[in-house]
Amino acid sequence: MVAPPQSEASSLRVRPVRKSFCPPGNGGGLRLALDSVSFSIAVGELVSIIGPSGCGKSTLLRLIAGLDTPDSGEIVMGFQPITGPSAERGLVFQDPNLFPWLTVRKNIEAGLVARHVLHEKRHEVHEFIELVGLEGFADAYPHHLSGGMAQRAALARALINHPKVLLLDEPLGALDAFTRMRMQDEVLRIWQGGRAQQPL
Ligand SMILES: Nc1ncnc2c1ncn2[C@@H]1O[C@H](COP(=O)(O)OP(=O)(O)O)[C@@H](O)[C@H]1O
Ligand SMILES: [Mg+2]
Repeated sequence: MVAPPQSEASSLRVRPVRKSFCPPGNGGGLRLALDSVSFSIAVGELVSIIGPSGCGKSTLLRLIAGLDTPDSGEIVMGFQPITGPSAERGLVFQDPNLFPWLTVRKNIEAGLVARHVLHEKRHEVHEFIELVGLEGFADAYPHHLSGGMAQRAALARALINHPKVLLLDEPLGALDAFTRMRMQDEVLRIWQGGRAQQPL
């Protein structure tokens, strides 16, 4: 038996994926969101998906995240077809979606709570708070944070699970231009720090 090359074992492969929706008010007709989408991403690659609003970017990320299923085709991570959400695929949306009743620290811990590993991994929480530059705000609630800070907390919540893939769906889209540029640099810095293999 020949061991598979490391790249194939850890890569993300999208094989001709098709996804349509049946939106209300469309007379029961289908709207094609994705058709024959195929690509592969190797470990360590950073890929940007660019296209006009409505071209299917979020749909594709939701399929990779396992939040929805394709009509046909498949998405494979290593040798495992994606059949549902997993902590190995972190997703950050345009809206940081922090729990408003939890502090920054508790929001970041939520990623560990969901995986039932809070007890053994609690020591990492401070490390990730530092990584995203939120020292001093660990005990603040989301409504005390700026948009950029809230997105950094959401990023830390995804990263603390050490995802193999980090899916970023326009996470900086709602920020002002200046903060967005600064945050783009920060996301790259975090990625280059080796925390996630393949931000998309
Ligand atoms: N849950 C849904 N129900 C119906 N139509 C949807 C749904 N999600 C996406 N769509 C449609 O699929 C197309 C692609 O949407 P989306 O992936 O959100 O695009 P993008 O992220 O590139 O702006 C759009 O025409 C959108 O209206
Ligand atoms: Mg979108």
